[in-house]
Amino acid sequence: MTDHQNETRAAYDAVVELYASMFADRLETRPFTRAMLNTFAELVRDGGDLRVADVGCGPGHLTAVLYDLGLQPYGFDLSPGMIDHARAAHPTLRFEEARMECLPVADDTLGGVLAHYSMIHTPPEELPALLAEQARVLVPGGLFLVSFFATGASEPVRFDHKVTPAHSWPVDRFVDLLTDAGFVVSARLLHDPASERGFLDAHVLARLP
Ligand SMILES: C[S@@+](CC[C@H](N)C(=O)[O-])C[C@H]1O[C@@H](n2cnc3c(N)ncnc32)[C@H](O)[C@@H]1O
Repeated sequence: MTDHQNETRAAYDAVVELYASMFADRLETRPFTRAMLNTFAELVRDGGDLRVADVGCGPGHLTAVLYDLGLQPYGFDLSPGMIDHARAAHPTLRFEEARMECLPVADDTLGGVLAHYSMIHTPPEELPALLAEQARVLVPGGLFLVSFFATGASEPVRFDHKVTPAHSWPVDRFVDLLTDAGFVVSARLLHDPASERGFLDAHVLARLP
């Protein structure tokens, strides 16, 4: 595990209960996220392979939403505290401690991968390999929904996220990396108000050919 992954794990382990309580309403106050998740789930269902991964699942609230949307989700997170919480909160769902850089999933296995604000802590130079790993586990035609903070700057911007340092991304740069990893991007949704930091929320939906 790299130093930054160790730091991310320790930082999230330290805030499990607080973090989980912040998202206890799941998506009730997040209509745009709900819309993109609904679309993702519909397209995965249409593809016929219902197995999906929620990578960087945190307390598992979105893993449970994926289940409610008719999918068969696995939640993965590098924070053991988050995984313990997710298992306790959703005892019928599957959660496993794992890094999204090396998922314990065979090639061409999943109909979808969700990465909801879980790639924000990844150093920009590591993102190409991380996206390639998500492509590896998806079946042909598999869906990938990734959410992150968007910046109008031309380069990724490092900032002091409340838990541990993170990066916001120019959406076009992120889309270019997805394309390089073999994805075809089909939708981008940008909306206010990500946060007091002045970023927008970005949701990008892509699929493998
Ligand atoms: C901002 S939280 C998002 C959690 C959840 N997806 C949500 O939307 O509420 C980021 C999560 O990603 C996890 N994470 C960060 N880097 C990771 C990595 N390399 N592998 C697996 N999980 C990671 C963290 O432990 C944390 O639970």
